[in-house]
Amino acid sequence: MLDVAALATASARGEAAVRFVLLKQADEHGFVFYTDKRSAKGRTLEENPSAALAFYWDRTNRQVRVEGSVEAVSDEEADSYWASRERGSQLSGSVSVQSSPLKSRAELVARVARAKSLFAGKAIPRPPYWGGFRLRPTRIEFWIRGASRLHRREVFIRTGKVWKRMMLQP
Ligand SMILES: Cc1cc2nc3c(=O)[nH]c(=O)nc-3n(C[C@H](O)[C@H](O)[C@H](O)COP(=O)(O)O)c2cc1C
Repeated sequence: MLDVAALATASARGEAAVRFVLLKQADEHGFVFYTDKRSAKGRTLEENPSAALAFYWDRTNRQVRVEGSVEAVSDEEADSYWASRERGSQLSGSVSVQSSPLKSRAELVARVARAKSLFAGKAIPRPPYWGGFRLRPTRIEFWIRGASRLHRREVFIRTGKVWKRMMLQP
């Protein structure tokens, strides 16, 4: 895991939502996180594949903001990350319908117990609805706290393959 980030999405009707996710990969191809695609965020990203991430590090007084479009990671990538997860997380991912109502906590615990015995001694396969999204950035902004609110802001904006860099007023 690289870090925790706030992930913002907007529905087709323009309704905004934000929640934290664990960032699993960040490289020249984009920023990857994993989730249940049936979740509220999964469904929203399906109807409007644009998203934003925000990171904040209190100890260094830095913020990074990323905006762009998302696409699903390949099945191979998702399989490989799924296989690296601990068994308990695989069980939870197999029985929880993320963001759907739950009658009782006991029901969920019972589902985990059933899955545990069903998969005893076997590998737990990645459910088809569980996977990753890769945010391909078109805008990345670095913010560093400055004295008396004279923060430093530097933004990189991509048009096609070209990144343009500029400073912004704090
Ligand atoms: C620190 C932290 C990390 C989280 N990481 C993830 C994650 O990687 N994937 C995920 O689906 N939910 C993660 N969650 C839970 C989400 O914030 C959220 O509750 C869940 O995904 C349902 O969101 P949704 O209803 O908007 O889809 C995390 C929560 C916290 C507090």
